[in-house]
Amino acid sequence: MSLKNKKVILGVTGSVAAYKSAGLARRLTEAGASVHVIMTDASKNFITPLSLSIASQNKVYSGLFDDPISHITLTADADVMVIAPATANIIGKFANGIADDFLSTCFLSFRGRVVIAPAMNWRMYENPVFKRNLDSLLSYGIMQIGPDKGSLACGEEGAGRMAEVQDIIDAVISSVTEKDLNGRKILVTAGPTREYIDPVRFISNRSSGKMGFAIAKAAIRRGAEVILISGPSDLMPPPKAQFIRAETASGMREAVLRHYMDCDAVIMAAAVADFTPADMSSSKVEKSETMVLNLVKTPDILAEIGALKKRPFLVGFAAETGQDTSRARRKLIEKGADFIVFNNVASELSGFDVDTNEITIIERDKITPVPLMTKDAVADVILGRITELIT
Ligand code: CTP
Repeated sequence: MSLKNKKVILGVTGSVAAYKSAGLARRLTEAGASVHVIMTDASKNFITPLSLSIASQNKVYSGLFDDPISHITLTADADVMVIAPATANIIGKFANGIADDFLSTCFLSFRGRVVIAPAMNWRMYENPVFKRNLDSLLSYGIMQIGPDKGSLACGEEGAGRMAEVQDIIDAVISSVTEKDLNGRKILVTAGPTREYIDPVRFISNRSSGKMGFAIAKAAIRRGAEVILISGPSDLMPPPKAQFIRAETASGMREAVLRHYMDCDAVIMAAAVADFTPADMSSSKVEKSETMVLNLVKTPDILAEIGALKKRPFLVGFAAETGQDTSRARRKLIEKGADFIVFNNVASELSGFDVDTNEITIIERDKITPVPLMTKDAVADVILGRITELIT
């Protein structure tokens, strides 16, 4: 998942949020895109062409007649156009085919995906004339991201803040992603579980939930309907996922059993606790010099789904401390999964809390090592293999 080899046109219009466009341009280039900024005259009140030229590492376009045919050449081979911030004025012009400046003219000459990130006062955003323009634009398949609710530049509160830069980047990436999981339903488990000793103490597994959340996000980007069942995690679930919180292993099991039936694939990235206290005390246990915990095995959710006669495509994870894949292979057979994602959590760049991972995909007759990459990219590798194998 990246914007490598993608040509992105970033339109910047006259809203105070334009100062954030420099950060956006920079992040788009960091994601691998070649970024070409088009500024409207009004946007120059908020940010300079030089700032955007430095951030995008490219020339900035503005005047319609600076270079007579660039409104055709610039857009001819572009992959996506993103307007951030998009004012009520530019949305009105786009919706009505008005081409009286370089940006609106380029919009008409462009054939690819367009993403708009509106930014304006909430009263302007709710104005029925504006709404009509926006609805008309969206009916042509243009993608909208935001606006967010919050404090506005004018000092008022409401919906009108430009979406966060990360959300805009996600929308741009989504717009250029092939929807190869369209019509598919995928269940993902993520995070740790908590097994309570008493109402205030629990045992748990180390897990941030990052890998499972990245898989859920990537599956949505590729067009799937996603159910994300997660143990306690600080991460924000992807807005389009059906999100279910599960705290304990048995709670996670119940949620999975309730939802797996009509899914095409179940991906179990959760670090489910292997043991749970045999009896949970209903009141806080008095401290003593030593304490012996009587633990029993938790239900193995992966193995339970794997044993079913009719089941979705099934992926398990094996977190190991070392490079030896033999235990992971054993889990593949014993738990009845279609493949196991092996990762060495003892490595600093792979495993807990970090944004990168180095995995090996273990199938019955094939072992595929995957080089170190971001968890977002790993998610795409896993989903890519699922789309190849799923029938
Ligand atoms: N898993 C599960 N239910 C459990 C324990 C694990 O569904 N009670 C799933 C995990 O979500 C993961 C896979 O099984 O997809 C492997 O989990 P892991 O803890 O690595 O393996 P275990 O089978 O528990 O074996 P061990 O702890 O001995 O390595």
